[in-house]
Amino acid sequence: MTAIQRTLSIVKPDGVQKRVIGDVIGRFEKAGLRIVAMKMIHMSSSDAGGFYVVHRERPFYGELREYMSSGPVVVLVLEGHDAIALTRRIMGATDPAHADPGTIRADLAESIERNIVHGSDSVESAAYEIPFFFSAMEIHGG
Ligand code: CDP
Ligand code: MG
Repeated sequence: MTAIQRTLSIVKPDGVQKRVIGDVIGRFEKAGLRIVAMKMIHMSSSDAGGFYVVHRERPFYGELREYMSSGPVVVLVLEGHDAIALTRRIMGATDPAHADPGTIRADLAESIERNIVHGSDSVESAAYEIPFFFSAMEIHGG
C-alpha cells in the first residue's frame, strides 16, 4: 500500500527553452499523476537560492542559482500514489549520463547542471517546496 502524496516539480529554464514543457508534463500525466497546481514564473537569483537553500554549501550553488533564474520555469504540484518516488523515477538520475533510458533526463537533458526537471526528493522536501511556490488556495486537490 502506498500513500497519496503531493510533490513539487519544476520544468527548469532549459526545458522551457527547448519547448519540452508538454513532453515533461505529458510523461507525468501518462504515469497517472494528477496536476493539482501549475504556473509559469521567472525566479530572481535570491528566489532560486531560497528554493535550493539545502545546497548552500555546495560548490555548484552559485551556478545553480544563476541557471534557475536564467529564464522562466513551470512549477507544478503533482498528486498521486507514491508521487514523490514515482516522479523521481520518471525524471531519472541527476546526471543524464547515468539516467535510465526512457527517463526525462536520459531523453532530454544535456548535463548534470542543466537537467530539465526538478522533483522533491522526500516528504520533508515536498513540505518545504510546495508552499514555497503555492498557497493552499492555488492547489486544487481531488
Ligand atoms: O535535482 P536532483 O534532486 O536530482 O539533484 P540535487 O543533488 O538535489 O541537485 C540539485 C540540482 O543542482 C541538480 O538538479 C542540478 O541542476 C544541480 N547540480 C549541479 O549543477 N551540479 C552537481 N554536481 C549536482 C547538481
Ligand atoms: Mg534534489
